[in-house]
Amino acid sequence: MKFHIQTWGCQMNDHDGEKLSGLLSAEGFEAVAEAGDADLVLLNTCSIREKAVHKVYSELGRLREEKQRRPLLVGVTGCLAQQEQAALFKRAPHIDFVLGTMALRQLPRLVAEAQAGRGRVIDTGEYPDNHLFPPQVARRRDTAKALVTIIEGCNHACTYCIVPTTRGTERSRPFADVVAEVRGLVEAGYREVELLGQNVNSYAGGCTFAELLARVAEVDGLEWLRFTTSHPMNFTRDLARELVTNPKVAPFLHLPLQSGSDRILKRMLREYTIDQYLERLGYLGEGRSRLALSTDFIVGFPGETDEDFEATMQVLETVQFDASFSFIYSPRPGTPSLRLKDDLPMPVKSERLARLQQRQAELTLASNRRFVGREIPVRIESRTATEQGWWLARSGEWKTIHLAAGPGRELPFGELVQARITQASPHFLGAELV
Ligand code: 5AD
Ligand code: SF4
Repeated sequence: MKFHIQTWGCQMNDHDGEKLSGLLSAEGFEAVAEAGDADLVLLNTCSIREKAVHKVYSELGRLREEKQRRPLLVGVTGCLAQQEQAALFKRAPHIDFVLGTMALRQLPRLVAEAQAGRGRVIDTGEYPDNHLFPPQVARRRDTAKALVTIIEGCNHACTYCIVPTTRGTERSRPFADVVAEVRGLVEAGYREVELLGQNVNSYAGGCTFAELLARVAEVDGLEWLRFTTSHPMNFTRDLARELVTNPKVAPFLHLPLQSGSDRILKRMLREYTIDQYLERLGYLGEGRSRLALSTDFIVGFPGETDEDFEATMQVLETVQFDASFSFIYSPRPGTPSLRLKDDLPMPVKSERLARLQQRQAELTLASNRRFVGREIPVRIESRTATEQGWWLARSGEWKTIHLAAGPGRELPFGELVQARITQASPHFLGAELV
């Protein structure tokens, strides 16, 4: 039996895909790179915005045709599976099974039942041990950086967000399990780890998130530690201190802001004002200048006036984010913001998004230019040079680096090397080996 998993969405979903892949491999199934070569295709879906959902349905449409030509099992998991549950079978009757986000370990059973010819197999139950997934089972794709779950679910209630529905309430893994997993990963050759959760800084697995960072950083041989993603209200002074003082914690913080208007933040139920967000950034003190800071914005939230949007443009100037990810508000089924009147015309929303992204591109370029002339550690992320002779690498600040090694020189995949930054462009930094 050959299987192919297609994953959309965030790192949490990526890592779920790695866990699911491991479960199938343990059953003796063989992973293949192309859906066309697989007997089982598993769609590991995202439903954060309508566009993500469209992609899933269009892939399902393609698979329906393929299924008419040859025997094929089709399973759906991830956030859309959890959100739609059995309704998926109505919309796409050729789906063989549906697996929820909190029932990952039920996958082999569901596949066996589907193979036995039982139609419409489904498990979207909430298994209390889902977050205790045995670490050795996961089959990781990246061999330089390992993803490690520390907390699942989210206890916030942002009015636009589907995640509390699709990922449930917060469940933290015991810290000893996390540390043991990282130790095992380092023994297996990984030197960089990214701790994952919908909201890592409300971690409560026997210590605080700041303490967890310190404990994981103590693992011998670990070089870089990252984490994603954080809610500003759970961003503590202790965490800020760990971030700026612990040399193993990569100098990068993603702290989603969503809007520069207090009025809109309130309608989003973000639980903070702009001043409170800025106060959290203030916790970083002097260390702030050594960090790269990124954020998320939603534009065109119901009721967003020109004035509200100008406040968002203003906050870009105040904070000078190194990067930001911005999206047009997408109404999600079952979320509280559906009840808000959403009468802003799409062209207005698009124009706002374009303005924000244009200004951010300038700020990102300015941020990149500040690196020129500096010598920084970067991790080699490619096994071969590109046609142009560049090696791809990544800095602690999460900048993409194009590294020139000189003709005929091989660079050590996965390792840290010192690079001198020679040029800045909007999307990457050019560098040479020191
Ligand atoms: N519409 C648009 N963007 C959204 N995000 C979350 N929900 C929505 C939505 N309904 C964005 C937020 C979040 C990022 C992961 O996706 O900015 O931080
Ligand atoms: Fe998409 Fe959010 Fe689910 Fe991640 S948690 S897959 S971003 S809906």
